[in-house]
Amino acid sequence: NTDPKTFEMDLEARIEELELVAGLKTPAWTYDGSIPGPFVRANVGDRLIVHFRNALPEPTTIHWHGLRIPAAMDGAAEHSQPAIQPGETFTYDFVLPDAGLFWYHPHVHSAAQLGFGLYGALLVDDPTEPADLGDELVLVLSDMAIRDDGSLQDPQTGLDFGTLFGREGDLLLVNGRKNPVIQARAGRRQRWRLVNAAKSRYFQLAMKEHTFTRIGSDGGFMEKPVESAALVLAPGERADVLVVPRGAPGSTFAVRWVPYDRGYGTTFNRPEEEVFRVRLTDEAEVTETPRPKTDRVITPLDLAGATPITLDLTQGEVDGKMVMGINGVPSWEAVPVPAMVGETQVWTVKNTMDFDHPFHLHGFFFQPLDASLAPIHPMEWKDTVNVPVDGTGRFAVRYDDRPGMWMFHCHILDHADAGMMGMLDLQ
Ligand code: C2O
Ligand code: CU
Ligand code: CU
Repeated sequence: NTDPKTFEMDLEARIEELELVAGLKTPAWTYDGSIPGPFVRANVGDRLIVHFRNALPEPTTIHWHGLRIPAAMDGAAEHSQPAIQPGETFTYDFVLPDAGLFWYHPHVHSAAQLGFGLYGALLVDDPTEPADLGDELVLVLSDMAIRDDGSLQDPQTGLDFGTLFGREGDLLLVNGRKNPVIQARAGRRQRWRLVNAAKSRYFQLAMKEHTFTRIGSDGGFMEKPVESAALVLAPGERADVLVVPRGAPGSTFAVRWVPYDRGYGTTFNRPEEEVFRVRLTDEAEVTETPRPKTDRVITPLDLAGATPITLDLTQGEVDGKMVMGINGVPSWEAVPVPAMVGETQVWTVKNTMDFDHPFHLHGFFFQPLDASLAPIHPMEWKDTVNVPVDGTGRFAVRYDDRPGMWMFHCHILDHADAGMMGMLDLQ
């Protein structure tokens, strides 16, 4: 039965003391008192109504990352909606247009608010997709900076060395927990839906003696699956991967964070670290069933007559203060990129800085055009792509009928807050 349903929920942003590190109380910023916030799951075509209340001491909004919804519901503070003041409410109301794993987070002081714990996952199912891809798990990856007394490290320090690089927290979290253990049956395929919800950290995951078969990314299934030993997720990106756990009943294996070189002193030379552990149940190995086909026809956008847009991710100086920007100017001085409903554009995003920037466009999926954007490259729909040091990201986007002001920015949120953000003026 695929008749559209309506999901109506209340959601409150508030500070709540949580024990994120054993024995310490942390005044975390939460949706409904938990990290991550409530997990929302619905089908394509369903309507979601969220009665939101801001019980934080500062303004906020909710941005629905990756959803192709009207601009007025996008949560881009001061552009598509006024920020929601402390004590105020706002009702988000939209239809879910696409299947995939999406997520929600604030769009005011994003690095701080998200880094303090405000994020959650939203899974949209397509009832016609192949059944039995495996035991499904949604894994929200993040990190947090907590001081020895349990307080949160205040990330609102302006642009300094930390913000320039993009600050990482020492505490790695999976669904709000440090190094959790997940259960699996040997030989029984698992489907992991992952989102990198960290404000700056790249997650490169690896396992000994296991590989990832990636079947989907930001905008649902990819043209064809890709198998790899490591999986890199820049902030904001999602992956849909299949893993076949192997080993003796009762044994365990680790999924590790391994350093990813994003330039400029590479992630402060952090050592490898276990992110979560898989424990095989005591049951005997199950016979592996063949993997259903998830191949998806993605028709390349017609680029004849497409408008070229060129952007350069840079740093600059305003009144003697260093800022991050696009084409040399910070967001508050940028001229919007003009676009028309129905138009196709080819964006060339250059990175002339010393470190990688994950580039994100609100409200629309795009088609990456060349391998500079990803090491392995079947056709896929993306909303966030990594643009490497001295690299260029090219992608094509076609605008459907949702006029308004749409943001694009680096998803290292310290960079976005420092000015690496621009607006698309769609008319
Ligand atoms: Cu997750 Cu402006 O985005
Ligand atoms: Cu977004
Ligand atoms: Cu950046």
